[in-house]
Formats: sequence, C-alpha cells, structure tokens
Amino acid sequence: MSFDLILFGGTGDLTWRKLMPALFQAWRHGKLPEGGRIIAVARDERSDDAYRAFIRDRFVEVDSAKRPHDDEFARFAELLHYRRMDLALPEHYAGLKAAIDARGADTVVLFLATSPHLFPQICKQLGDVGLNGPKVRVVLEKPLGHDLKSARQINREVRAAFSETQALRIDHYLGKPAVQNLMALRFGNALFEPLWRRECIANIQITLAEDLGVGTRGDFYDRTGALRDMIQNHALQLLTMVAMEPPISGDADAIRDEKLKVLRSLKPFSAEAIARDVVRGQYRAGNAKGQAVPAYLEEANVPADSRCETFVALRTEIQNWRWAGVPFYLRTGKRLAARDAQIVVNFRPTPHSIFPGMNQPNKLVINLQPEDGLKLHLLAAKGARQHEALSPVSLDLDFDKAFAQDRVGGYERLLLDALAGKLNLFVRSDEQEQAWHWVEPILEAWKADHAGPRPYTSGTWGPAAASALVARDGHTWIEEQ
Ligand code: BG6
Repeated sequence: MSFDLILFGGTGDLTWRKLMPALFQAWRHGKLPEGGRIIAVARDERSDDAYRAFIRDRFVEVDSAKRPHDDEFARFAELLHYRRMDLALPEHYAGLKAAIDARGADTVVLFLATSPHLFPQICKQLGDVGLNGPKVRVVLEKPLGHDLKSARQINREVRAAFSETQALRIDHYLGKPAVQNLMALRFGNALFEPLWRRECIANIQITLAEDLGVGTRGDFYDRTGALRDMIQNHALQLLTMVAMEPPISGDADAIRDEKLKVLRSLKPFSAEAIARDVVRGQYRAGNAKGQAVPAYLEEANVPADSRCETFVALRTEIQNWRWAGVPFYLRTGKRLAARDAQIVVNFRPTPHSIFPGMNQPNKLVINLQPEDGLKLHLLAAKGARQHEALSPVSLDLDFDKAFAQDRVGGYERLLLDALAGKLNLFVRSDEQEQAWHWVEPILEAWKADHAGPRPYTSGTWGPAAASALVARDGHTWIEEQ
C-alpha cells in the first residue's frame, strides 16, 4: 500500500518530538508500509534537505535507544519532503492536491499537528480543492474545543468536508500499549469477566500523575487547566476502556458504541456533588527529583493571579447494572511526587478471614507509565510456621520482557492505524462531545467559585482534600508500583 502522509505543522513541537520519532521507529521495525512519502508542511521556505537536517538535529532529544544512526537516518530521510504552505491561501492547497494527485498513492493521510483553531479553516480549504476524496483521511490532535459548544462547532466544520469515518481524533493515551492490553485482558481472556462488576470490585482508581511542571507551555496551559487537558480526554477514555460492556465485535463502531454508553451513564454532576466530589489544586514551590522548583504562579507566561488548576481529583459513579454504587476516582496533576500513570482495580475483601492479621483485598494494577505492565496483588503463605499471617505477593507481567522487540509505542500505533484506516483507537465525535457535556458543569461551577484551587507543594500527591475524598468512602489512593 503506497501512502502520502502530510504533516501540517511540520516544524512544530508535536512533529519533531512525537511524530517523527514514532515514524522512525515504525520504519526501523519494518512496520511502515512500503512506498510511503511523508510531506511536512509549514510556513517558511526551506528545501527537503534543510528539513531533513532540521529533523535529524532534533533527534538528539529522543531516547538514545530510539535515535537513528547516521546511515539509518539517511535512508529514513529519503521518505521526508518539505512543502511551504500559507494555510490561508487556496492556491497553496490546490498545489498540494496536484502534488498528491501526480503520485496517486493508495492512501492519503492529512495529519493536522497545528493549533486546533486552524482545523476548521484547513478542513474547509482541503474540501474546497477536493482533497477529501474516499482515500483521504484527516487526523486531528487535541485539544478539540474548549467546551461543548466549541467542540461541536469544530466537529460541524470538519464534517462539512470529511465524513465521520474520514476524521480521526487522536487521544494518544489510547495508543499506549497498556490500554490495548486492557482490552486483551478483558475481552481476550475469560478469567476476569465474572469478577468485573460491582459484586466483586470495591472501587477503581485512575491516576495520571506527572512530575514535570508546565514548563514552556504556560500560556497554553493557563487557558486550559488539568480538567480540560487530561480529564475530559485521557482519563475519561481510560475509564470507558475499563468500564465498557463487551462489544459485539472488534469493529471500531462496535467498540465506540460501548464506550459512548459508559460516558452517557456517568452520574451527572450537581452543584453539591461538585463541591463535595471534585478537588482542584495548584502547585506551589517545592522539590522535584531533589531540585527546588518554582510555583505554578512563577512559571513563564502564567499570570501572577492565575486560578488555573494544575491538579484535579474527582469521584464519580457509572449508573448501570454492572457498576452502580462503585466509586471511580480520577486524579491527575503536574508536579506530583512521580511520573506515574495507572489504573487500579481494587477488589472487595474476602467475606470472612480464617488467617490472622490483616485481610488485605486483592488488587489489579495496570501500569501505563513509566513502564507498562500488569500486576495482580494476592496474599500468600510463606509456610514458615503454623497460623502465620499471610504476606502480600504479586503476579507481575512485564510486557517489554514478554514481547521484547515487538512493542509498538503510542504514536507509532496510532500513525500506523491511521495509514491502515483502522479506527478502533480513534475517538468518535459523539464520544468527545459527551465527555465535554459531562465536565461542563464543573467548568461552570469553577467560574463562579471564588475560592480558587487549593495549593499543594510540588513533589507531593496534591492537596490533602484529594485524600479526604477517597478516605470518606473508607478507601485510600494506591500509589505504589
Ligand atoms: C498531553 C497534555 O495531552 O498529555 C500534556 O496536553 C501532558 O499536558 C501529556 O503532559 C502527557 O502525556 P504522556 O504520554 O507524556 O503521559
């Protein structure tokens, strides 16, 4: 299958930090289809060779194991081309179409790695010149909208040029290997399904913690905040994967229909529930990896009186037969104690214990970051003496060891799927709009709440109120690996 992959925003951060390294890995592992051409599009004038040198220089920022050797880069770079485009000029789109038509590749993927406010304009122009035929797909990066209204507006404008199956919305968390393994665990194995319900599960926790601050993205972040940046998309997408019913098939829409049902079943937030069940925080100065780090309010391009949240913890429930009454706790934040993304399924304790000591319930931990893997925590007897207390042990699955060379990273997976037209891991517009619908009351309540976010010290697990939120139900956040 020959392809043309067009990267709008070809000199931007996303392209060189994430997309190029992912494309290189796919190429290195022989996974990129033969006959490919990658055209980076940006505003300034430069030759193909100058663009290749620009990308080569940026690879120094990539993990050394994932960096190309010189000869490898030279071969990979043959795929790379550069095209200057002013995104406001129709004739530049016509020129792009002519270049694509001249080659006649089987598949054309237009990846919009630009600022989202340009999406409607780019999609309209692509549609106007006819760069929206059946073999064309467009990939949209988040943030898709700022609230429900703006998300709907973007979706309407994208839909005027591209059908739903041509518009691929990326949530890069869905590309993470652990998320695919969650699907495999739930629907490729019979073991857990009978336990995956309110009768056996006490609570589910989703933590997306980062140790970094907002860095150079202060301006963007201050207009966004943790609820929009991480909860509305990544955390809710993970929640749908954990909580969905078994789909009738592996087809994209069968899966996405089930995910949408979960989003529709989330308990709507009342004003009282927001005050009680949602905690927002903002980091103060503290320590990260032994270094003193500044407060959010001291970061570049952040207003000194900003009330933007850098931390959110919330409790919700899913109102259906499988999950009624089971708390789902979601938590995310910048400058927390560790970079750690995990889903913890806490099972109920045994109804009656015949062993001395603590009756510690089982838990299943799905680690997304820093390493991906699965850990099932059990209790076992050491067998050293009679009537001994049981000891915690874990069954530990390290996917890197199990599958060694065959691992595919998040963006790599999503790019390969976009080229192959496999939509399972892309977010449908109705899912995305439903997620906005659910978070919107919180955004509204915060606008009217003058208390602002609670301070927390950098390098900790967030405001104490986040622990209290879980403790109220008799639970604690699980932080160990
Ligand atoms: C992005 C957010 O979507 O995800 C960033 O905009 C965040 O603020 C990033 O840092 C986290 O992604 P990952 O894959 O590094 O956990």
